[in-house]
Amino acid sequence: MNKNDICKIGIGTWKIDPENFEKDLEALKYSFDLGQNYLPLSLLYNNGKVVEKMKDFIKLVGRENLFICANLERYVEKIEDVENQLNYYLKILDIDYVDCFQIHTFAVCKIPMLEIYREIDGLVKLGKVKYIGISNVNLEQLKQINSIVKIDFFEGIYNLDCKYYENKGLIDYCKENDILFTAYQPLRRNKIAQKNYEFLKQLAEKYNKTQNQVMINWIIKEKEIIPIIKSTNKDRIKENIEALDFEMNKEDYEILNEFQNEKINSIEINWNDESGVTIDQLANQNGGEI
Ligand SMILES: NC(=O)c1ccc[n+]([C@@H]2O[C@H](COP(=O)([O-])OP(=O)(O)OC[C@H]3O[C@@H](n4cnc5c(N)ncnc54)[C@H](OP(=O)(O)O)[C@@H]3O)[C@@H](O)[C@H]2O)c1
Repeated sequence: MNKNDICKIGIGTWKIDPENFEKDLEALKYSFDLGQNYLPLSLLYNNGKVVEKMKDFIKLVGRENLFICANLERYVEKIEDVENQLNYYLKILDIDYVDCFQIHTFAVCKIPMLEIYREIDGLVKLGKVKYIGISNVNLEQLKQINSIVKIDFFEGIYNLDCKYYENKGLIDYCKENDILFTAYQPLRRNKIAQKNYEFLKQLAEKYNKTQNQVMINWIIKEKEIIPIIKSTNKDRIKENIEALDFEMNKEDYEILNEFQNEKINSIEINWNDESGVTIDQLANQNGGEI
């Protein structure tokens, strides 16, 4: 599938339940029927069991109708680990290629990230990978990698409370370099709506939408970011898709643009190792309460 054919909302897969997969498969199919086709996968989720189950979903809807993004997980200790891990995904999913391949975080790399990306570029040439992505790195790291291989996708934390990447200029860099920014935890796992910010409540009332719909609409239409939202509840899947069917005034988008949760956005990220606050944990600080 082509980069331009991706639905504006990706299908989140963290917390898909492999033990009760019948129900979740139905929800995944429902998402697909509503147009969702971007499927990020990680061997970390439930010890690889989520990926194993996804084979059924892929068979059900047809491999060519999905954009599959596979994450390279910890640890890449020698260069062969890159292709071996990709082959594992291909085998488990019974497919010939992935649409996108990316490191899940810089911390998976026990050998230089540049070497890993040269290797991934080789997998593109072999036809096993279509596009190259990257996740959870900082602007310097992104620039460095993008100078040696063409990066097409960046997966990072973004929501109303967590504007770290925007504040650091990474989202602008993506736009300038034709890199599609996909946002994980775009609803901050429903924590933002639960806070009932007054301005958000008012916008929801004004447009006769839910707070989550207002945020999804803003992320897609104003920020031109693709949110990856996990939901296995049909009502909420529909609610999220219906966030696409309205427009807000410029002034109302500005309210969301200008909002900064200083407690979150002033947190210093540890980019050196896996201690301190790492970027993938930013939205979870204090259980998402700040
Ligand atoms: N690259 C990375 O490091 C990274 C890190 C984290 C996540 N991800 C990916 O990004 C995806 C999304 O992130 P996430 O799952 O952590 O957070 P999220 O999508 O912001 O939130 C998911 C949670 O919100 C609920 N929800 C969904 N729509 C809702 C709505 N309209 N109203 C109320 N609740 C709603 C879901 O419950 P129900 O299912 O019950 O609706 C689920 O509990 C993940 O699933 C994963 O694929 C990647």
